[in-house]
Amino acid sequence: MVKTAVMVSGGGTNLQAIIDSHIFGEIKNCELAAVISSNPTAYALSRAEYAGIPAHVVDAGRYTNRASFSEAAHRKLSELEIELIVLAGFMHILGPPLVKAYQNRIINIHPSLIPSFCGPGYYGLRVHEEALKFGARVSGATAHFVTNEVDSGPIILQKAVDILPDDTPFTLQRRIMEEAEWKILPEAVSLYCEGRLELDGQIVRIKGARDDGSAS
Ligand code: GAR
Repeated sequence: MVKTAVMVSGGGTNLQAIIDSHIFGEIKNCELAAVISSNPTAYALSRAEYAGIPAHVVDAGRYTNRASFSEAAHRKLSELEIELIVLAGFMHILGPPLVKAYQNRIINIHPSLIPSFCGPGYYGLRVHEEALKFGARVSGATAHFVTNEVDSGPIILQKAVDILPDDTPFTLQRRIMEEAEWKILPEAVSLYCEGRLELDGQIVRIKGARDDGSAS
């Protein structure tokens, strides 16, 4: 069992998708060992509590810079002997020492099709505002490994979602969550925990994938 921590900052719908998939046996070989929130009032903490997963707070507001916050998170992860970190609606950039210590062991979900609408400053609703402003016809979500370059690590899974003429940032965000994020994030976690992800530089190969590239 891969000892996994889910890091969150807000509502935690992606955390809920992971919890539900885990309960239904769709995530294999994974121990949901901890939820770590950067925000002491995040609803994600209640979701963890209802699911019986130990919840911890490393309050980003108490640290003056990214390095000291990331160090505190690193200490907590080491203390808990975490093997895999999942960033699920986590709104901070982790420092290089933590990224290095967990190289190819941090998975993030980003609410667009990387390399579009991503990078520093692109998080939450802003991503969808920019996709709409640009007139994109399609957006979606990407589950990827985390490197020091924001939203540029090896891509594990992506799913496209149509942008509709009447979309607002809120309707688009919701549809991308429902149709893409909540599906590919649990799937990526399971692929990792099952040992089915193989890295070849920037390219992720999925062992046992079908010819059309789908995972199962
Ligand atoms: C999700 O859309 C997630 O992809 C995004 O914030 C939302 C939070 O959802 N994350 C980022 O933008 C990080 N770059 P949640 O708290 O309900 O899971």
